[in-house]
Amino acid sequence: MSLPGAPQIAYRGDELFIEDCSLSELARRHGTPLYVYSRTSMLAALAGYERALAGREHLVCYAMKANSNLAVLQTFAQAGCGFDIVSGGELERVLAAGVAPSKVVFSGVGKTRAEMRRALDVGVLCFNVESESELEVLSQVASASGATARVSLRVNPDVDAGTHPYISTGLKGNKFGIAHEHAVACYERAAALPGLQVVGIDFHIGSQIADTGPYLDALERMLDLVEAIEARGIPIHHLDLGGGLGITYTDEAPPSAQALVTSLLARIDARGHGHRMIMFEPGRSLVGNAGVLVSEVLYLKPGTGPNGDPAGSAKNFCIVDAAMNDLMRPAMYQAWMRIVACRLRDEPAVVCDVVGPVCESGDWLGRDRPLAVREGEFIAVLSAGAYGMTMASNYNTRGRAAEVMVAGDRAWLIRDREAATELFRGEHLLPLA
Ligand code: LLP
Repeated sequence: MSLPGAPQIAYRGDELFIEDCSLSELARRHGTPLYVYSRTSMLAALAGYERALAGREHLVCYAMKANSNLAVLQTFAQAGCGFDIVSGGELERVLAAGVAPSKVVFSGVGKTRAEMRRALDVGVLCFNVESESELEVLSQVASASGATARVSLRVNPDVDAGTHPYISTGLKGNKFGIAHEHAVACYERAAALPGLQVVGIDFHIGSQIADTGPYLDALERMLDLVEAIEARGIPIHHLDLGGGLGITYTDEAPPSAQALVTSLLARIDARGHGHRMIMFEPGRSLVGNAGVLVSEVLYLKPGTGPNGDPAGSAKNFCIVDAAMNDLMRPAMYQAWMRIVACRLRDEPAVVCDVVGPVCESGDWLGRDRPLAVREGEFIAVLSAGAYGMTMASNYNTRGRAAEVMVAGDRAWLIRDREAATELFRGEHLLPLA
């Protein structure tokens, strides 16, 4: 039976498998910490969006900030996906993965002139513009190079997505997007500026959203704007409804992508906007549940209280070789991510804090988790396919983990483990005796 929220991850006998590969075996072969992804799971997640959008002009633009490994990009590109990028670095990655720039939208509040120039040179599909100043700069950059920048304005619909404050982006107090009440004036400005061509409108209200409600509210406000903008003679070709759909980490029950998209499309059709091209920018919901972080148990450090009793005077610690630098989400958002043993033991579980070797008390992956594991065995943090590797750092001069992609019983190393010498390459000693 597969584990909650992780359709391709299940025990076979005592061993935890991802698709047809044993995670302990992959860990022994490639070392730990190790990110492992299910290709089947990624493609199935994309298919949910595609099924709902079939028969109409659309582009699903994978928000690659969630997981930008070249093999992940290649997987989605081959399935016909577009990409949402937020930096010049992400642009170089999609190009390296062989993605057509005409399937790339460029989001982000702080694009530099150099990034704009490069994106114009390669010919991205659209810039999602987040402020009036950015419009002016983009107009200058495009005019100077004799190019036309296709633009969509990211409007801030001022709706509460009901998610963690760090990942909520559609409220008035957020730095994102153009305030709803200024949007029409901004569109008039965009239409008047040289070097720009208005093509669409977009919103993105936050991440790990578990309800359809906030999307519908934002959509209604967006459609009101589209009508007001077109009444001023500025045609809007596409509607980009952003990303943000949540996944199951614990007991969240977000709608499926297909259900969410279907209800949004019903609203779009009912209001007479069904002829427009539809875009989405999902990140987490395409890759989150497809990945795990596998880590070796280095030390078990029992607390001084009764075994496994969290009410005891001290905690039990399970010290593993993955840390906050490999997976930031627990330390940064107090995110709860399921942790399981890669090999089941017929022994009572001990409640422990799963922590890494980094010298910070904030370095934990899970608190008060029941686990039956021995030193030298492996644990897996589930739902780690999104915002895991991409947020990893080299804190404590720890090389970043290796990554493996699995499809059926095949497994490919898709990123080498970072070696210590690579971490200080590019640093210089002072020329002093
Ligand atoms: N579009 C834009 C403009 C975005 O800013 C984002 C995510 C997405 C799409 C994709 O959102 P998703 O479908 O993945 O929710 N590091 C945090 C999440 C940050 C999300 C940032 N923006 C986490 O680990 O929970």
